[in-house]
Amino acid sequence: SGNYVVAIDGPAASGKSTLARKLASRLGLLMVNSGAIYRAITWEIVRENINPEDSDAVISALEKIDIETGRNGGVSTIRINGVQPGDELRSEVVNSNVSAVSAIPKVREKVVQLLRDHLEHSSLVMEGRDIATIVFPDTPYKIYITAAEHVRAARRHKVGEVDSVKRRDAADSGRKTAPLKVADGAEILDTSDHTIESGVDAAIEILKRQG
Ligand code: C5P
Repeated sequence: SGNYVVAIDGPAASGKSTLARKLASRLGLLMVNSGAIYRAITWEIVRENINPEDSDAVISALEKIDIETGRNGGVSTIRINGVQPGDELRSEVVNSNVSAVSAIPKVREKVVQLLRDHLEHSSLVMEGRDIATIVFPDTPYKIYITAAEHVRAARRHKVGEVDSVKRRDAADSGRKTAPLKVADGAEILDTSDHTIESGVDAAIEILKRQG
């Protein structure tokens, strides 16, 4: 298809989700939050009383979990066994277990396939940890979002998570399969001194250079 992807990666509390959402709406593209799929699987695993650290148990449960992606206006949606998880995706139990679940290679294989399938229907802005490195390595549009530690700390305080974000970043960067890192060809965008709007402007300038 002639569809294309803007890949946005970066750590938690970097401003990546807000930027990706605004960028998608400015460009008229579907916004796909890949973390929501890892969160939804984690939510279901916890709901089924499976130990997220037990990868064999997670994998066998995953075989029976039905995951359906869709869209609602400009944003992708997810249903897991017919249910849309909603606010529970951001709950502390999901925050503290999602890195363990998402480190399992078989989980990643399944999610990567689901993510790639989105491109059949439309062009996308997709945000996550491995979008430019693994999911769509051939896209020319790759932005890695960062922010200074004090800015990220302030953002974490605002959303009420501090320790769990630090642990998550350490786990996501240190894992064997698809660790968070700057992809070849990605441009780094530091959002520390940007407003939301000026950050989107800066992202669009980067995309012009990359295209
Ligand atoms: O982006 P968000 O913070 O919602 O992602 C939640 C978690 O999902 C991350 O901490 C990471 O463990 C996992 N994730 C991932 N790969 C992605 C997106 C998210 O491993 N592309």
